[in-house]
Amino acid sequence: MSADDDKKLAAQSAVDLVEDGMVLGLGTGSTAVFAVQLLGERVKKGLKIKGVPTSDSTEKLARSVGIPIVTLDEFPALDLDIDGADEVEPSLCLIKGGGGALLREKIVAYASKRVVIIVDEKKLVEKLGKFHLPIEIVPFSRGLVQEKVDEMGAKSVVRVRDDRVFRTDENNLILDCDFGLIEDPRALAQKLSLIPGIVEHGLFIDMVERVIIGNDGKVKELTK
Ligand code: 5RP
Repeated sequence: MSADDDKKLAAQSAVDLVEDGMVLGLGTGSTAVFAVQLLGERVKKGLKIKGVPTSDSTEKLARSVGIPIVTLDEFPALDLDIDGADEVEPSLCLIKGGGGALLREKIVAYASKRVVIIVDEKKLVEKLGKFHLPIEIVPFSRGLVQEKVDEMGAKSVVRVRDDRVFRTDENNLILDCDFGLIEDPRALAQKLSLIPGIVEHGLFIDMVERVIIGNDGKVKELTK
């Protein structure tokens, strides 16, 4: 079984939770892509759902597979959010933002009654932090925020993709921050939230109901 097979298996389990009439959060990343494609297959067979996408790329994919797109203005409370993650620790705190969509992903997760995360086994860790924490910042604040997070013990770099400074869907920058292993994700999340210029960070704390893990052809779950 490849990592993609495991991602698809996890995605299938999450999509099985979807019922007629639901308004869904649609995540971003390679695992969420499987979920959106599988939802599209169910929509073609008659499933009635609506989706709020967490990125421009997910919106494009969702439209292409026939999922009706709505906004949080129309539906501020979502039934279920299905998204991926970069790291998951035992109390279901996450690092997200590897795909640069953490801001909309966190807004959509917050808006959702239930958040289900789909990953392959490699995303499970004892402590967060091997995956460098993505932080979305307003470009104007870059020097200040880098100085502040570096003072907090991080090594931070502005994300570059394909030789260009990466811009999020909101035209912000991402700082990828190496804090080492994060002993207290809640405390770090609170500190980061106090720094002006940080729009959002990729620590998702107490937001998740269930993590579905694909591992070597089997599915297991972590719940709160
Ligand atoms: C995007 C994300 C993704 O959920 C995360 O990066 C996981 O992606 P993948 O499923 O491709 O490993 O947070 O901002």
